[in-house]
Amino acid sequence: MAQVIVIGSINYDILSTMQRAPRAGETVNGETVQLMPGGKGLNQAVAAVQQGVPVRFVGKVGRDLFGDRILSFFAEKGIEASHVGRSADEATGSALILVDATAENRIVVIPAANKQIVPTDADGLAIGPGDLLISQFEVPRATIAALFARARAAGARTLLNAAPALDDAPDSLWSDTDILVVNETELGHFAGTALAGDAPVPEIAAAARRLLRRPDQTVIATLGVRGALAVTAAAQTLVPGRKVVAVDTTGAGDCFVGSLSARLAAGDDLPTALRYANVAASIACTRIGTGTAMPYAEEVKAAL
Ligand code: RIB
Ligand code: NA
Repeated sequence: MAQVIVIGSINYDILSTMQRAPRAGETVNGETVQLMPGGKGLNQAVAAVQQGVPVRFVGKVGRDLFGDRILSFFAEKGIEASHVGRSADEATGSALILVDATAENRIVVIPAANKQIVPTDADGLAIGPGDLLISQFEVPRATIAALFARARAAGARTLLNAAPALDDAPDSLWSDTDILVVNETELGHFAGTALAGDAPVPEIAAAARRLLRRPDQTVIATLGVRGALAVTAAAQTLVPGRKVVAVDTTGAGDCFVGSLSARLAAGDDLPTALRYANVAASIACTRIGTGTAMPYAEEVKAAL
């Protein structure tokens, strides 16, 4: 069976909810605080494995308590982690996340061990035709580029979630990506155009097409409550959003990417996988948390 291989970031998330985030010099009372596994890579891996496909992870944690907890978490979730290394001199990555009453977040990421993920961390990893390699920009871009080139040479597909928007990716990475997933802000950044939050779909589609490097690539723009738009050189698919009462949008984008990857690896066509991922992400918005807030296949299917 095709597998999802995540070249990804791992953070320990400290997430607190509050009515509103403090301004500089101000102290506010929060309502809840949770410590849990997070990081875009880990969140995407959890979302994928919970849809029932085999998932392998390539990443790095520290030789510390958070690193121990992450490795137990991977084992509990059934994520294959023999290519998750331990840094000799960096701590496990972490993130401080403030979520306010409007479900918006503010995040500080301390990358630490994630900065040390190198191509040789994937030495010995079997990558075959049909597999889907996925990554995000919390991992060194040169490492992603090297492993995407290896994946394409092996006949596997590649999916890049270019988040957060950074400009230091080698040029080859953009052409070695089969499916690029960005939100509206990232799309505007990479397409070199400011997109308003309510930019009309044709404007978003035009910006997305500007990112295509090959005729057989796909760019997917996630549009929050408006759903998701996929464009290729010849076609476009718009999947409308699913209305929910959002309490925490943190990790919803990761849920989208992970569930989409799982369904694509399982053989769904793109429109079917998009609709599925859109529903999965809407469920993630109704839960406080990141790596522990991802829905299972049964929950997504019940809401489809
Ligand atoms: O996308 C959400 C993630 O971003 C959080 O889990 C946090 O760790 C940051 O990496
Ligand atoms: Na959430």
